[in-house]
Amino acid sequence: MSRAVRILIVAGAIVVVMAAAAVVRQASTSAHAQQPVATSGSGPSSASFDSSITQNAQRLIEEGRRIFRFDTFGDEAFWGDQLRLQQAIVGQKLGGVGPGLSPKMALSVGLKVDAEALPADLVAQIKAGKVDMDDPASTVALLKANAVVGVTAFLNTDGTARSVGIQCALCHSTVDDSFAPGIGRRLDGWPNRDLNVGEIVALAPTLKPFADLLGVDDAGVRKVLKSWGPGRYDAELVQDGKATGPQGRSAATVLPAAFGLAGVNLHTYSGWGSVTYWNAYVANTQMHGKGTFFDPRLNDKGQFPVAAKAGYANVRNKPDLITSKLAALHFYQLAIPAPTPPAGSFDAQAAQRGQAVFEGQAKCASCHVPPLFTEPGWAMHKPEEIGIDDFQAHRSPDKQYRTTPLRGLFTRQKGGFYHDGRFATLDAVLNHYDDHLKLKLTAEQKRDLIEYLKSL
Ligand code: HEC
Ligand code: HEC
Repeated sequence: MSRAVRILIVAGAIVVVMAAAAVVRQASTSAHAQQPVATSGSGPSSASFDSSITQNAQRLIEEGRRIFRFDTFGDEAFWGDQLRLQQAIVGQKLGGVGPGLSPKMALSVGLKVDAEALPADLVAQIKAGKVDMDDPASTVALLKANAVVGVTAFLNTDGTARSVGIQCALCHSTVDDSFAPGIGRRLDGWPNRDLNVGEIVALAPTLKPFADLLGVDDAGVRKVLKSWGPGRYDAELVQDGKATGPQGRSAATVLPAAFGLAGVNLHTYSGWGSVTYWNAYVANTQMHGKGTFFDPRLNDKGQFPVAAKAGYANVRNKPDLITSKLAALHFYQLAIPAPTPPAGSFDAQAAQRGQAVFEGQAKCASCHVPPLFTEPGWAMHKPEEIGIDDFQAHRSPDKQYRTTPLRGLFTRQKGGFYHDGRFATLDAVLNHYDDHLKLKLTAEQKRDLIEYLKSL
């Protein structure tokens, strides 16, 4: 083949590739995340498909972020229409019931305010001290601005409320307090360890749907909700009906990190499944959104009597407001990196010595394999391997505990470590491992290890 002919063929191919890229661009701006991106007519062309991958990634992140922050999956039919939570939030004066939830009370139960969602005039009023933080009407103003993280109210123009729904961000985002304590920029994936989910749900005028499900009375449900405390939630209560664990302690777990999850195979403290498995589980069975969920493991009447009765093993709703969102939601969560600890929050030299202990004598890295800090593969362990009781493990199908990825540990200092927060400090965690694994760590090695853990 002559050189000139070759150049002509290459030039022709470039024109085809460019035309294909234009078609893909056009298609992708209008295509929905779940629809395959069209490649143009005459067969695969790698250059254009590369760009469609990049565009797809960008779109999934943006859609996923919106879903994570703002999508209720239709769960207002539960929290609003059934529990009437909005009535307790707005209070009697605005057509609801009771005193209402003032911004001060909302912040005290750990709800967070997205400062970037506040309109300029409201910001000015807050700064000038002109917003009455004791008046539920001020909470309504925040809800109107869609500024309460993880909560969407459906309001009428006169300030009364029709309904209210919740989002993933309620438990899995906090704010950086840059405006005021509890008010700032969003930090998606950081567990809100101030949030008292139980207190908030217990504001509802009626808890009958929970009472019916659990086979207890209204007062019984309220008692359970109030036993959780800040930063905790029980994602298995409506499956097995167990409200208390060992020594009569609440069965709730501390809210986990929802960042740094890419590369990790199994999720939740007891490894129920992948991120997208769990997203479908939560959206359908916990948030009470309207979707589709299938998991025959929940049909086990012995282990999950409540789920078996409620039919959580096979949930079908029409229309399905969840399934079409799972791909973007999954992708967004995998894109959230573990945050880096603030400068000066640990001693770098000690941390370096601590790394050697972590990977050596203390054997931590045999399970917490860097840089994921969990095992690649099936990261599950029997309770006795880590020296704790089997209560929470036995509330899941696999009956074991998953090795928790350790990055961004500094964001979950509040509320304690391990699934139920049983170890108040890292010191307590290390003493536990030292005893259980007979590591014979010196006080200095423990100090260095702690600095290393704080540096992750
Ligand atoms: C009411 C609070 C709450 C809400 C709302 C909530 N979660 Fe969670 N989430 C939890 C708790 C508690 C766990 C731990 C459950 C366990 O281990 O049994 C958890 C676990 C997770 C995990 C596993 C993290 C890991 O690797 O261990 C992911 C991912 C997650 N949630 C994502 C979501 C998404 C996405 C949504 C919205 C569809 C959502 N959550 C809604 C409380 C909540
Ligand atoms: C046999 C495997 C294994 C070994 C060895 C191991 N861990 Fe763990 N680690 C786990 C499991 C499983 C969990 C989850 C326990 C739970 O949530 O109840 C965990 C949890 C943790 C947590 C709590 C994280 C959180 O967010 O609550 C820390 C911190 C931790 N490990 C540090 C260490 C250190 C330091 C060492 C070495 C001294 C170590 N681990 C050794 C399996 C292991």
